[in-house]
Amino acid sequence: MNVRHLISLASLSSEEVFEILETARNLKLEHRAGIRHTMLAGKTLAMVFQKPSLRTRVSFEAGMEQLGGHAIYLGPSDIKLGERETTEDIALNLSRFVDGIMARVFKHETILELAEHSTVPVINGLCDLHHPCQGLADLLTVWEKKRGFEGLTLTFVGDGNNVAHSLIEGCAKVGMAFRIACPKGYEPDGKIVAAARALGACVEILHDPREAASGADVLYTDVWVSMGQETEAKSKQNAFEGFTIDKSLLGAAKKDAIVMHCLPAHYDEEITYEASRGPGSAIFDQAENRMHAQKAVLALLMK
Ligand code: CP
Ligand code: NVA
Repeated sequence: MNVRHLISLASLSSEEVFEILETARNLKLEHRAGIRHTMLAGKTLAMVFQKPSLRTRVSFEAGMEQLGGHAIYLGPSDIKLGERETTEDIALNLSRFVDGIMARVFKHETILELAEHSTVPVINGLCDLHHPCQGLADLLTVWEKKRGFEGLTLTFVGDGNNVAHSLIEGCAKVGMAFRIACPKGYEPDGKIVAAARALGACVEILHDPREAASGADVLYTDVWVSMGQETEAKSKQNAFEGFTIDKSLLGAAKKDAIVMHCLPAHYDEEITYEASRGPGSAIFDQAENRMHAQKAVLALLMK
């Protein structure tokens, strides 16, 4: 890979995205076959979190162990990024101790600042604009389930948020059409949409979930209220009424459509429990694939 950091999927070429997917698939198969990897032996990853996490924290930590390395968890109250110490000083310090930094932050600018001052690779573990590790795990999941991307449509029902942005960028890289159904006022970032369209990607923005779900190969959703938006909870819950993946909406998609959710889920808001556990559900495969996709990123960036 030519990139030094993983900031967003837009910063990768199509070839690099496929290189990550292929590496992830091989690492996954080898791990399942009981092969022990040592490519990151002696290497340490610092994991900086300004927000809570289950999947990101555990999948990165387990992934580092499986590659022979080690991870250090730095929770929201440990280093108080930007409060106790500047982002620049944290990047300069961590670079002297570890071989890579994964960070989950509020502002996208914080990831950029970490990357600017760090001499080791920085991986974006979610910010207000992007969730590239999630996007890679999602592409890996679709690739495994559908054996390719050509001619497929991924429909995202919900907020034009960080996860939607990474899916827009990821779909553009692999040639999968992206459609979103969101309430008016909750569209994805215009610049991200324009950049994907400039690559020739198909990005459709609709406001009717049923119309958007029609003929979809993948039905995807995420929470209506992202971390850090708690004060908007009431207004968002009102605005998103009806933007729920349920049995009836599933009926509008293709018969063999897969259902995806990055988790955590708020059942009976963005998805019903029933829809999340149906035969087409890929939700927990997606969660598992976080680890395999990230192991590929770690191996390619930190080796
Ligand atoms: N999907 C995801 O990033 O989960 P966590 O917030 O638990 O890390
Ligand atoms: N959009 C969600 C994703 C959680 C993994 C959030 O930012 O909280």
